[in-house]
Amino acid sequence: MTLKISVIGTGYLGVTHAACMSSMGFQVVGIDIDASKISALSAGELPFYEPGLQELLVAELASGRLTFSDSITSAASADVHFVCVGTPQRAGSLAADLSYVDSAIENLAPVIKSGSLVVGKSTVPVGTAERLLARLQHVNPLLDLAWNPEFLREGFAVEDTLHPNRLVVGVTNDDAEAILKEVYAQNLAEDVPWIRADLPTAELVKGAANSFLATKISFINAMAEVCEAAGGDVTVLAKAIGYDPRIGSRFLQAGIGFGGGCLPKDIRSFMARAQELGADQSLEFLREIDAINLRARTRVIDLVRAELEENLIGYKIAILGAAFKPDSDDVRDSPALDIASQLQAAGAAVTVHDPKALKSAQLRFPVLNYAESIEECIAEADLILHLTEWKIYRELDPVKLIGLVKRPIIIDGRNALDRDLWISAGWKFRALGRKAIN
Ligand code: UGA
Repeated sequence: MTLKISVIGTGYLGVTHAACMSSMGFQVVGIDIDASKISALSAGELPFYEPGLQELLVAELASGRLTFSDSITSAASADVHFVCVGTPQRAGSLAADLSYVDSAIENLAPVIKSGSLVVGKSTVPVGTAERLLARLQHVNPLLDLAWNPEFLREGFAVEDTLHPNRLVVGVTNDDAEAILKEVYAQNLAEDVPWIRADLPTAELVKGAANSFLATKISFINAMAEVCEAAGGDVTVLAKAIGYDPRIGSRFLQAGIGFGGGCLPKDIRSFMARAQELGADQSLEFLREIDAINLRARTRVIDLVRAELEENLIGYKIAILGAAFKPDSDDVRDSPALDIASQLQAAGAAVTVHDPKALKSAQLRFPVLNYAESIEECIAEADLILHLTEWKIYRELDPVKLIGLVKRPIIIDGRNALDRDLWISAGWKFRALGRKAIN
């Protein structure tokens, strides 16, 4: 008989996982305490933007395999329960807030049937899984728990879930692994690498992977700083080192650095946990990674001042991009919005455009000015900042835009625009880690 699945938490991760599991043929219920989110999802409305997910959601609802509920008791008949709730940074601390994970387990334990498997997907500090397993078995000794970290990227969430580059399962026994092999049978048939680990290793894999990615980005941003000091070009440097397969060219895009709901808080929570474990020295370097990352935001503001003047009061600055990365409407710890609000606080008149994230940006930073169109955003601007590399910005025609602004100055905070094109159209083009060319 086909396994029945419940997914607890319907954020980016949970909705994607639920819809993808349904598309693999399982009966799935997605559960969340937020009743308004559940009624939207049940009506086929995705509360956030993620390419391809809206269509998949509608199709899976229509198939009858996917349902949503705001009651945890809807998980009662499922065999496997994926915990996909958020673990944001705890207020006033570097550590992760585990309250959503803890309450998911507390609520699940008394209602699910004996023999069922709870599978954690949320990013948690090492040691959490063992603690949760003990808690589950205290309520019902016939429950089991596995940890199955998630590596999906926003913007590619459906693709990454249906075709992951590896599956990591932390288990304490063969039965749990067998159940997970049944869940992921389609992936296994496609030869997706399968890594069985113990619980702590599975938890650590996630922290290690995100720390490595953050390190790669901060490494190239540190190189950008050195290029600036020495008169080099970080985009050429990145290309040159990227050809070495041991280094690789991905995640070497210098610019205003990483943000989002994962990388920043994950490296901090990893450091905080290492400290608790007495291994603080081992992850001390992540403090520097974090500092380099935040410095990139300041450096771009320094560039703005260098182009305008130290005192920004009254200057009109247009910002292209609000999301923390393209193809997402997620503005959690968005470098673009952080820079926008710092410029606004410095007295500049800031107008922000984004093709998908205006609504989420407005909710988080209501004091900024937002424009629905690029033309409206840049009208009479003293300077344009390109901060999220959406395709529509790369396709802009600088010849057409030059008549709209007060001064033709653009700073490419993502090193993603075609510099020659903008310069030949008459713009002054500045970018992090590259020399100024007029
Ligand atoms: C990240 C990881 O890439 C996923 O594997 C992981 O599953 C996820 O976190 C998570 O923990 O849930 P995501 O936050 O969606 O995924 O975004 P990334 O594609 O990793 O980008 C993170 C940030 O780094 C963005 O702000 C992006 O603009 C920035 N970035 C990325 C750079 O500044 N330079 C680069 O070369 C690449």
